[in-house]
Parts: sequence; structure tokens; C-alpha cells
Amino acid sequence: MTEILEIWGGHPLCGTVKIPSAKNSVLPLLAASVLCQEKVCLEKVPDLSDVQVSLALLRELGVSARQSGDRVLITPGRQLKSSLSTEMMHKMRASVLFLAPVLSRMGSVDASLPGGCKLGARPIDIHLDGLEKMGASIHWHEERLYLRAPHGLQGAEYTLRCPSVGATETLLLAAVCARGTTILHGAAREPEITDLAKFLGVCGGRITGAGTETIRVEGVPSLFGATYTPIADRIVAATVACACAAAGGCVTMQDVRAELFAPVLDVLEKAGCNIRREEERVTIERRDLLHGVGLVETGTYPEFPTDAAPLLAAALLQANGESCIQDTIFPKRFACAEGFGAMGARVRLQDAALYINSGAITHGAMTCAQDLRGGAALAIAALAATGKTEIRDAFYIKRGYADLKSLFRQLGGKMRMFKK
Ligand code: UD1
Repeated sequence: MTEILEIWGGHPLCGTVKIPSAKNSVLPLLAASVLCQEKVCLEKVPDLSDVQVSLALLRELGVSARQSGDRVLITPGRQLKSSLSTEMMHKMRASVLFLAPVLSRMGSVDASLPGGCKLGARPIDIHLDGLEKMGASIHWHEERLYLRAPHGLQGAEYTLRCPSVGATETLLLAAVCARGTTILHGAAREPEITDLAKFLGVCGGRITGAGTETIRVEGVPSLFGATYTPIADRIVAATVACACAAAGGCVTMQDVRAELFAPVLDVLEKAGCNIRREEERVTIERRDLLHGVGLVETGTYPEFPTDAAPLLAAALLQANGESCIQDTIFPKRFACAEGFGAMGARVRLQDAALYINSGAITHGAMTCAQDLRGGAALAIAALAATGKTEIRDAFYIKRGYADLKSLFRQLGGKMRMFKK
């Protein structure tokens, strides 16, 4: 049995959608809640499969975690377990974010390597190296990782080899309740990191500099609870914007600030879309043919986000003129190129660069999602193509979109999801 997303393309998208809280903010906040001694309530949380995995990880640790509509309520236990099952660790990359909070709170943690989308090698060496600098001992036994810090973690000055989002979050989570001061150099600057620091601050953490390359953390003995609404999902917003650019029409996105996904909007504007940026609201309109945009390179924030690379590619399949999207973060970002080709697109994959030639008229096809954003990119391409497209293994898409079918249906897209 696989989940199939079926799409009938060729209909412009029109209307208004609300952008939910960001997956990449919610997941670290759920891991951070392990450090809180009081109740945590997160609001506007989308019902994603990755959120379900995080809740299952919390329950494995002995934390009570329940959903009520789009709220998640977490009640800490007094004594937590310190072991994370291989099964849950393998289900997503963000499971690695549980290591530091459990280690900090319990003095030890054992787990296996995290799973996640196959975008190329995704080591966790920076996470582990930083934790080691903060006093953790690390050893491996039969593919399980054992971290120990029986006397607690110690603040340290540490330079990240590259600005990894996950490693910056791990080290923030390790530092917030460590003894003394931690200074992180070369930190990632993504808005989700700023959001994590803000949440930790609301819970009593003492963090300055999040959103810059240097973050300073004064360790505190423990954290309180909080009620918190994470920031909007800039990648869901980019998905809606790219879909409107691909299929044509006019769509307003509410509850999202344009600065959060400015590089995506800038490229879509260059391709010929009209964009209206208002406070907490962005409108995109595409009436005429799109133009090719030449070279777009992804990078760390505030550059063009890697997660939006396949989404933009799907829109640019409709452009007149050439484009090339070069991903500098992950070597296998464009597994969706095969599906684009099956739809009649003239694309060529060379290493981590996708070349898109103009002049192709795309049509529906049988395709298969191979990762989360690539699956969403196939859906965007299908919305603009003529005829019917089937996307197999659509469960990947549920990792980052609570209900993609309903999201696009409310804009006039024709989609259904079924199992076969
Ligand atoms: C996060 C996001 C993901 C996004 C990515 C880049 C979450 C849950 N996921 O993933 O959607 O695509 O940021 O913006 O927030 N690296 C190492 N060693 C490490 C850690 C990372 O070499 O210890 C490398 C990775 O292989 C990759 C690069 O650094 O090439 C960036 O990865 P990273 O920023 O860590 O991405 P994630 O946190 O996994």
C-alpha cells in the first residue's frame, strides 16, 4: 500500500490561505520542552507526521504530550528516561535534536543515528563535537550512540565548522542549562534559530545574539514553561507562492511576513510575478508567461533557502527562457528531476545543479515522491501541467504539509489523496 496524490492540472489558483507555524521551528521547540520544569503549550501547530514522531519521542521519554486541535500541550515528568528508540530516531532527521536536552536534563542519553530525507550524506559530527567540548563523553556500541555528562554540561567557547541549523540548535539546547557561559561562533542565522532562542528566553533562558553568527548563552539551572506560538512556515509560504507562479492566478498568504521568504519572492518577481508585501500578508499574482531567471544559488539564511529550490524549479518549468538552480547545501536536492522529465519538462541534472530549458509544454504523468520538498515540487509541477498526475509515496509530503490537498483545493486546485 502506498499513498497517492492525484492532481488534475491546468487550473489557476485563486483565493486566500493561512500559513501555519513552521515545522522547522515546532520540532526544535518540542525537543526543547524536555528542559522545561513546567507545562509548555505550543499554538498553531500543524498536524505533520514529523510532529507525531516528536510527540512519540517525548512519550518514550516519559513526558506527557497531547494535541488538542492545533495546540500541543506538554507536561514534564519528574524523572525522564534517557533512551530514544532506534525506530523513532530513524523516522526523521530532527530526532537528533532530542540528544542535547535529554543529556542536559538526565546526565546521559543513548540513541541511534537520525533518519530523514535522503539529500546526500547528513553527518552529525558538529553536534557531537560541540557536545564533547561542553564536557560530554561519547562512545558507540552496536550502532547506538551513548553520551554521558554525569556532572552536567559545562559552558564553552566553540566555533562551528559550518553554520549547520541543527547543530546550532543542539548547542543552544545544551548550553541553556549548562554551567557557565557558552559562546557559539559561526552559528546558523535561520529565523527558526531566533525563534528557538526566543522560546528559551520566555522560559527563563539567557541568550543573546541569536540570528547573528555569534550567540552567547549564560546557563541557568532550569527552565519554566510557557505558552508560545512559533513563527510562520516560510517553506509552506514558498510552496504556495511557487504553485501560484506555476499555475497562474492570484493568491494571498495570511499570517506570514514577506521578509521571512524574501529571496523566493524576489526570484518570482524577477520571473514576472506581481508581489504585494503587506504586514503579515503577502499576495502573489501571475497573469502572463514567466521568464527564465538565469542562475539561482541556494545558501544559508538570508540567502535562497535550499528547501525552496525544488519548489522554485517546479515553477520555472513553465518559464520562457533558461534557469539553473544550484544547491550548495545538499548534493541530492533534485531527486524530483526524474518526475519533471516524465511530465515533459526539459531539465538536466548535473551534480547539485538543475538546468531548466524553456519551451516545454508539461503534461500529467505517473511520478514518485522521493523526499519531502521534492514531493511538494512534483505537486506544484502537476498543478500547472495539463491532464492527470499521480504522485506515489506521497507520505513524504505529510512530513512537512499537514494537508496539501486541502491547502490547494481551497485555492481551486484539483487534488485527491488515496491509498493503493
Ligand atoms: C535543517 C532543516 C532543513 C533544511 C536545512 C538547511 C530542520 C528540522 N531541518 O536541517 O529543512 O534543509 O536545515 O537549511 O530544521 N552538516 C555536517 N555536519 C553536521 C551537521 C550538518 O556536515 O553535524 C552539513 C549537512 O550535511 C549539510 C549542511 O551541513 O550539508 C547543512 O545541514 P544543516 O544546516 O545541519 O541541516 P539540518 O539541521 O539537518
